[in-house]
Amino acid sequence: MALFLDTGNIETIKKYLRMGLLKGVTTNPTILLKEGVTGGMEGVKRKSVEIAQLIYPYPLSIEITNNGSKEEMINEAIELSKLGDNINIKIPFHGPNGEMDNIEVIHELETKHDIRVNATAMMSVQQCFLAAMAGATYVSLFCGRINNMGYDTIKELSNLRMLIDEYKLKAKIICASTREVINVTDWLSAGGHIVTVIPKFVDGMIVHPYTKETVKMFLDDAEKIKNQL
Ligand code: E4P
Repeated sequence: MALFLDTGNIETIKKYLRMGLLKGVTTNPTILLKEGVTGGMEGVKRKSVEIAQLIYPYPLSIEITNNGSKEEMINEAIELSKLGDNINIKIPFHGPNGEMDNIEVIHELETKHDIRVNATAMMSVQQCFLAAMAGATYVSLFCGRINNMGYDTIKELSNLRMLIDEYKLKAKIICASTREVINVTDWLSAGGHIVTVIPKFVDGMIVHPYTKETVKMFLDDAEKIKNQL
């Protein structure tokens, strides 16, 4: 699994698919807005279907867009999940005012509706552990945001992985909110199962100035050999 791409850009997704590096995609309303999605919910659905089909059978996580009643959230999740059988539904762990219905939504979608949930917008091991106990298939820890708040993501990740393994929970940890190239390997080493990475950081992992210089030396010397009599 390891690498998901945190984007809604089709050409970017195609690029990393061709390299065999991409094993899933995550979006959220902010990503889709930045990507220029228009046409209301129909536009969101069109873009989601396009991505889901492109990356099939790898998973696409898309986020619900309402924070209404439990039934409203469940209904939207069911509707979105029907867009493709590789679609997972992102449910924020709680609402903007600390509403806790979301946890029941996570549990019901997983246990009654056979829908894979990515519990999202989580900032602590405690939240992720509870989301995993509620049955979420993925628990997204917003590692970059945690660091921004002055906490230590690495400690949170290793505690969380220890708990998930110890209690044999099925949840996979998605490390989200990448901020630097080094986040990917640091967070995987600390216990994350998957990092959902911003595309430019994958390029940063690939291209190294000293590799450029070394390859140039090999190519220059190859030319010299070819020109020797
Ligand atoms: C992915 O699932 C998250 O929605 C995303 O990584 C959040 O990134 P941000 O913290 O940069 O908004």
